[in-house]
Amino acid sequence: MKYIITKDNQSISRFSLGCMNLPLGNTKEINDILRLALEFGVNFFDTADLYQYGRNEATVGPLLHDYMKHFDIKIGTKVGNEFDSALREKIRWNPSGDYINRAAIDSKLRLGIPSIDLYQLHGGTIEDNIDETIATFEELKRRGIIKSYGISSIRKNVIDYYKENSNIATLMTDLSILKTQGEEFLDENIVTLARGGLMQGLLSNKHENVLEKKFKKGTYGYTYDELKQMLMMLTDYNHSLESIAFKYLDYMNVVTLNGVSSAKQLEQNIGHYLDAESISNDEIKEIRGNIKTLYYENHRE
Ligand SMILES: NC(=O)c1ccc[n+]([C@@H]2O[C@H](COP(=O)([O-])OP(=O)(O)OC[C@H]3O[C@@H](n4cnc5c(N)ncnc54)[C@H](OP(=O)(O)O)[C@@H]3O)[C@@H](O)[C@H]2O)c1
Repeated sequence: MKYIITKDNQSISRFSLGCMNLPLGNTKEINDILRLALEFGVNFFDTADLYQYGRNEATVGPLLHDYMKHFDIKIGTKVGNEFDSALREKIRWNPSGDYINRAAIDSKLRLGIPSIDLYQLHGGTIEDNIDETIATFEELKRRGIIKSYGISSIRKNVIDYYKENSNIATLMTDLSILKTQGEEFLDENIVTLARGGLMQGLLSNKHENVLEKKFKKGTYGYTYDELKQMLMMLTDYNHSLESIAFKYLDYMNVVTLNGVSSAKQLEQNIGHYLDAESISNDEIKEIRGNIKTLYYENHRE
């Protein structure tokens, strides 16, 4: 496993696990996924307070706790969506200092850890009081409640503001070989955590089913027919779609945040990730050359 070091000296595995789609309720399966990931060298696990209204944190944290004696484990979580855990509903977007301070303690308790390794703002707009949010993250860091902070965003204006006015260590953003919009946010001083690298399974050997089930209406930048064409182009290469998708992220020097819903998926993805090493930089550059460069049109100014 290769690791990448953040500006505040945390090492993050280049292949990390996104916990959003874990099969909550099936503890054995989740435990199998976590163990498999750890044995492969994964040291970073991404969750959020909002995922299943606190249940994701409360499940993943204690399960990972059992492995902490033997493995280096870092947990990242996110904040900003105020929710009612009893009613299981979102109340509002709330990036205020007061709320973040309270939410950080709640997340720490649910996760059962003394300090949150990475705390990311779960979105945000340019209208927020961003300076207050930044000051709150800095203070949480100073008090040792969190070790690093970052943002999860696809908004250029928000990302630019944080880059210029804060010490964000990470940026989580949507990036894959077909959804190239995130390329313009890459920055050598900030570790990019790329989500959506397999596009919900579209970039996998299940692409025909996934296209019909999840992409009937296309996706940002592509109609259904354009996606079909792109998949035909990619399947002409002598590599699995997963390996092409992983090699692209590796070539972009980002962390691949892989989301899975079963241990079998993770096992397959690890195999494809290892196979991706057989794809040369020249070949992935050639493949990327066949794909359009996209930009998000909104939230730029
Ligand atoms: N705003 C944010 O901050 C934000 C938003 C989204 C995600 N995230 C984080 O990023 C992580 C990854 O995002 P994502 O879940 O959207 O990424 P993704 O990798 O595009 O999608 C994951 C889904 O792809 C499918 N999949 C994975 N491997 C597969 C395979 N080998 N064959 C077929 N299907 C496969 C599974 O779908 P099925 O469940 O249908 O099996 C899995 O749940 C999340 O877990 C979460 O931690 C953050």
